[in-house]
Amino acid sequence: MLSYAEHGKFRAQTQAVARDICGARHVSPLRDPLACAFACHADLASGSRDWHGCNGAPTLTVAQDDDIPMNFASDNTAPVAQPILDAIVRANAGYALGYGNDDWTAAVERRLSDLFERDVAAFLVPTGTAANALALAQVAPPWGVVFAHAESHIATDECGAPEFFGGGCKLAGLPGDAGKIAPETLQSALAFYGGHSPHQMVAAALSITEATEAGTIYRIEEIAALCEIAHARSLAVHMDGARFANALVRLNATPAQLTWQAGIDALSFGATKGGAMAAEAVVIFDPARAAFFGERRKRGGHLLSKHRFLAAQFAAFLDGDLWVDLARHANAMASELGEKLAAIGLPPLFPVEANLVFVALPRALDAKLKAAGASYYAWSSETLRLPVDKVLARLVTSFATQGEDIERFVNLCK
Ligand SMILES: Cc1ncc(COP(=O)(O)O)c(C=O)c1O
Repeated sequence: MLSYAEHGKFRAQTQAVARDICGARHVSPLRDPLACAFACHADLASGSRDWHGCNGAPTLTVAQDDDIPMNFASDNTAPVAQPILDAIVRANAGYALGYGNDDWTAAVERRLSDLFERDVAAFLVPTGTAANALALAQVAPPWGVVFAHAESHIATDECGAPEFFGGGCKLAGLPGDAGKIAPETLQSALAFYGGHSPHQMVAAALSITEATEAGTIYRIEEIAALCEIAHARSLAVHMDGARFANALVRLNATPAQLTWQAGIDALSFGATKGGAMAAEAVVIFDPARAAFFGERRKRGGHLLSKHRFLAAQFAAFLDGDLWVDLARHANAMASELGEKLAAIGLPPLFPVEANLVFVALPRALDAKLKAAGASYYAWSSETLRLPVDKVLARLVTSFATQGEDIERFVNLCK
């Protein structure tokens, strides 16, 4: 199997060849650029103006800087990794039972148990929000309190899905530098709960994000310390692992070390941000705690009938350690971006430990970058108060980021 670095080279070479043939800008790495160039050529020769969906009218222009996307908006603006797309196509041959009763799903369930070095209960869903909300509903009752970082995705970006699927459970946002909850913060939050039954809601779960929304990473000892406090009060601990792979490769840990061996009870294991089309796994480490999760997922509208296509994505993601290679590339790109920005006086505001880089951009530079076609979101964080003439930019790299994206972006910043 090709490593991701090799896939990257292959992509660059075929694009160069494609440009040599007709000079067109071919719309997307989803499309085989070489085939697209030939099709453009055929359209040109036949006088057709259809361009088969390609955005590049095949004029004989030379590729410009504008061809370099500088897309740092999110890891979900990236395409689907080719081996995963290929796996979906392969799974499309013939018929298979629906609702997860197919061979692909059984194989992924076995693979996840192997990967985590124990029998786990695993359920695939198409979104990270569903994974988080259903997992939390499984481990916390409707009268339960789920503690999470105040700027966590579940608290800020899931439109109340955890409370909705949790039948009214309550999220309690905790403060913490660089996206992380400190053990003493959890301790003091817990001190408010427990003394006023049946009037008060019950402390039921802790949810941490790995890698965090700030692009930082909890070390295994930090996870273990939080789990120890939580378990001492009978809380379950959930990990939002939308970027689990990015954390894992940076720490050089095993999936088991980073989760249940440190005390995690349930994991939302993300594949979408890492290169899948739409695939996440809820992994419950003690299968006894997974009772009726299947019904919960169905009732919540997240059991896919053509489930084999979810499973095919997850299988390809894990196959040959593709997930590790893709995350390693995304992280390396973030490190390079962070280092190059620091070298020109724009140091990252949080340690760059996964695939996110946060920088304070002067407003004029922000406007210049946007005008040049760079794509990223202006962010806000309670822990980072910037002067009004600065924009907090969140730059996200992915498996698809190329060195040329970074070079062009950094040159514009100089
Ligand atoms: C940390 C984190 N968790 C969960 C999600 C949920 O993903 P989805 O958009 O698939 O629901 C995201 C997506 O941005 C995320 O960043």
